[in-house]
Amino acid sequence: MFNVAEEIGEKVKSVVPMEVQIRGAHLYDKTRRWVTRTDGQKVFVEQPIPPVEEVELADIDLSNPFLYRQGRWQSYFERVRNEAPVHYQANSPFGPFWSVTRHADIVAVDKNHEAFSAEPFIVIGEPPRFMDLAMFIAMDPPRHDLQRAAVQGVVAPKNLREMEGLIRSRVKEVLDELPVDQPFNWVDRVSVELTARMLATLLDFPYEQRHKLVEWSDLASSMEQANGGPSDNDEVFRGIVDMARGLSALWHDKKARLAAGEEPGFDLITMLQSNEDTKDLIDRPMEFLGNLTLLIVGGNDTTRNSMSGGVLALNQFPEQFEKLKANPDLIPNMVSEIIRWQTPLAYMRRIAKKDTVLNGQFIRKGDKLVMWYASGNRDERVFERPDELVIDRKNARNHIAFGFGVHRCMGNRLAEMQLRILWEELLTRFEKIEVVDEPEYVQSNFVRGISKLTVRLTPKT
Ligand code: HEM
Repeated sequence: MFNVAEEIGEKVKSVVPMEVQIRGAHLYDKTRRWVTRTDGQKVFVEQPIPPVEEVELADIDLSNPFLYRQGRWQSYFERVRNEAPVHYQANSPFGPFWSVTRHADIVAVDKNHEAFSAEPFIVIGEPPRFMDLAMFIAMDPPRHDLQRAAVQGVVAPKNLREMEGLIRSRVKEVLDELPVDQPFNWVDRVSVELTARMLATLLDFPYEQRHKLVEWSDLASSMEQANGGPSDNDEVFRGIVDMARGLSALWHDKKARLAAGEEPGFDLITMLQSNEDTKDLIDRPMEFLGNLTLLIVGGNDTTRNSMSGGVLALNQFPEQFEKLKANPDLIPNMVSEIIRWQTPLAYMRRIAKKDTVLNGQFIRKGDKLVMWYASGNRDERVFERPDELVIDRKNARNHIAFGFGVHRCMGNRLAEMQLRILWEELLTRFEKIEVVDEPEYVQSNFVRGISKLTVRLTPKT
């Protein structure tokens, strides 16, 4: 009976136009909120978080979306790593979950997709019902492998080589337009701008509309019920309708241009349209939207916050900036170290597929686990002085910010290339990049984001 209903559901998903499905989901969500009288009520209201010593171990809730913003995350994770490395929180606003906090345990879980499923979501909470876009990051093999294979080419080494020159010229353009000797927000002028340009290149999206990609991605990744972010569902649904329209138009436009004899490019849409399995992806609307959203969201917050995090880290550890200036060959290692230090995505979640024991804790089939990369990357068992940025750290590449196993980040080489180019170009231009005000951080338990970073640049003489 259930299977028949599921089958009908899948059929409906494949024939009903994308926009109608999203509007239907929105209506369902509004009605549900109205019936349960939760419409417009925020679950998360920021309260000061007490020092970790004042909290009972069992009451520690690592899903609090203000932990990073309030600078409490390091002490909370350190205590959990030491006292209860696989920690159970029974009463979080997202329901019960296990936290996996040590590097070795995270790797063990991430590698074992037979025992721990990435389905149906990768965040602690859940997106609104019927908005569960089909993304391969939240699928297990073999479905995952087929879908990943269809898009992987866009970041293949050959394609990256093609892109390098373009990315460098865009970095130069952005840096050459920056104000010198006066404060400005690095996040808007550099991190967001460069990431938007890179995403527009990957998708061959109209360049002048590139900020839409950032806008959509920000909305999709800041849902309150998914990760404690600030966006309410109505805003998110409006953004998703706009995104569905924009991406469908992109698909149809590309198809028409290719049919008219335009040379195929290296972009994602061309790649999908030339692949047997995905050439009709647009006819599977939610899968189409899911896969494109994954690429946009995957490449947005992550790279952006590594660009901001690097500047912040080098200000907190100024002797490292001097070391870098004296030896620019350290840039590639520094890029890994910045990604470790920032860890732009705090975690991925899994569901246990069977009863199992992890570092002495009995995990029941169906339990939710959160692999805290942000904690594993500060694990003193693996990294000496883990809270410090050390640009020539020997084992910087052992970080787990890109995950591990079948879901290991598809865009890792692209992200590293962008950061490398950024730092190469920065070093040729500026003597100092000073953070001149307190940074502001985003509200989320998933994205470790910096929303404002005021800096002043001193040019090289
Ligand atoms: C997967 C982090 C940049 C696309 C992931 C995962 C993490 C991650 C933690 C999940 C790994 C797991 O479950 O084991 C990062 C970080 C980045 C970054 C820290 C930058 C510093 C990018 C970029 C793209 C991208 C630029 C765009 C091409 C993806 C995709 C997946 C993914 C498509 C899903 C892979 C799969 O499920 O097989 N990333 N990412 N990422 N990332 Fe990234």
